Amino acid sequence: MGMNGTVPPGRRAAVVAGLRTPFVKAGTDFKDLSAVELGALVVNELVARSGIPPKEFDSVVFGQVIPSPTVTLIGREMVLRTQLPRSVQAHTVARACATSIQTTTDAADQILLGHSDCAISGGAESLSDAPIFATRALAQALVELSRAKTLTDRLRLLSTLRPKDFAPQPPALKEPTTGLTMGESAELMAQRNGISREAQDRVAYESHRRAAAAWEGGKFDGEVMHVPVPPRFERVAAKDNVVRKETTLEALAALRPVFDRRYGTITAGNASPLTDGAAALVLMSEDKARALGMRPLGFVRSYAYAALDPRDQLLQGPAYAAPVALDRAGLRLADMDLVDMHEAFAAQVLSNLKAFASKDFAAKELGRPEPLGEIDPAKLNVNGGSIALGHPFAATGARMIVQTLRELSRRNGQYALLTVCAAGGLGAALVLERE
Ligand SMILES: CC(C)(COP(=O)(O)OP(=O)(O)OC[C@H]1O[C@@H](n2cnc3c(N)ncnc32)[C@H](O)[C@@H]1OP(=O)(O)O)[C@@H](O)C(=O)NCCC(=O)NCCS
Repeated sequence: MGMNGTVPPGRRAAVVAGLRTPFVKAGTDFKDLSAVELGALVVNELVARSGIPPKEFDSVVFGQVIPSPTVTLIGREMVLRTQLPRSVQAHTVARACATSIQTTTDAADQILLGHSDCAISGGAESLSDAPIFATRALAQALVELSRAKTLTDRLRLLSTLRPKDFAPQPPALKEPTTGLTMGESAELMAQRNGISREAQDRVAYESHRRAAAAWEGGKFDGEVMHVPVPPRFERVAAKDNVVRKETTLEALAALRPVFDRRYGTITAGNASPLTDGAAALVLMSEDKARALGMRPLGFVRSYAYAALDPRDQLLQGPAYAAPVALDRAGLRLADMDLVDMHEAFAAQVLSNLKAFASKDFAAKELGRPEPLGEIDPAKLNVNGGSIALGHPFAATGARMIVQTLRELSRRNGQYALLTVCAAGGLGAALVLERE
């Protein structure tokens, strides 16, 4: 967007409200809720809490990474299943784990252009409700069966199927080009960058310690709604259930590697877990926020997306995107009061941090004389990250934005950098500012 200095008066995109559901491990409290239901819950509650009359909204940009076959356009469903007027137009976007960074920059762009004044941005994910596919052979046979005219034709078709063709196919978190899972790719990054198991476990430990402290200190109370748990609705999910206050470095060290059982370093403890949840934001033009008497939590200052070959270091995208976003903001890493780096895996966080600080990486990969720099640990993921909080893919970006802006306000800070790595070798970076 190159927003710095080029924003028409009053068109700066303000984030005026944000909310998320608790993030819960897949297969637990939200196992009976679909992504679209989780999304509608959070949008409904966000609009109600914001106090903004529904008629003021003009657009919704929403995302879901693992699609539900029966919901082709989750963005529009966020209008049709909530109190928003049906005249609110909507679209769906996906950028893997950076999806609700994308929904936010889409909404911000529309505001900047003067096409929108008040938008919902966000995402929802249910890994409990992931689609299970039929094998290709079964799917083809079923399509042909529906066209077969005679019983003989049908029997002939069925006779071509083997027992293995009936096995259900769960979605794989695999890169289609490399055939490697995210975890396997992160293992390769750990090896290439010399990231030890111990260092990864320390990142995981800090993530849990800080997230637990944030919950205990009441920091998340204003940004996490309560969700009655179906089917009986006798209980309420009020907090993230991945965070482990009691986690110790010893307990983390005792876990077995998952993706490379013999030589690997990545465990269930230092990886983000499969998670269900939703998060949403309200964005407005600065003028509109002023007219409605809203106090912005902060503003989108700049952003950048970047990509590298997935056969290389799959989750290293932030190291390519962050320098561009900072340049576009006219700021340096040292100007940031907070940095929030999505934690897909501790190995990925540490690999990204190494690249941020590396003169060699800056010269060879970015063509820059100086590296971006080191991040003060006291400013990085201060209230925990996706390892401890969980990672419902499409909701993570919006979670990070609301969490960071509220912390920036507590600290009376001015600038924050957010980064997210994503499938396909993608990276996203967003610079937020207060006043
Ligand atoms: C890593 C992964 C396979 C683990 O799944 P899982 O086996 O269902 O994980 P669990 O939560 O059951 O944890 C396994 C064990 O580790 C333990 N554990 C997990 N985190 C722990 C922690 N912080 N401290 C102590 N123990 C921990 C659990 O208690 C469990 O122990 P148990 O077997 O005795 O019950 C799964 O989370 C995964 O696929 N993550 C990666 C997701 C991904 O690719 N994301 C993409 C990012 S872009």
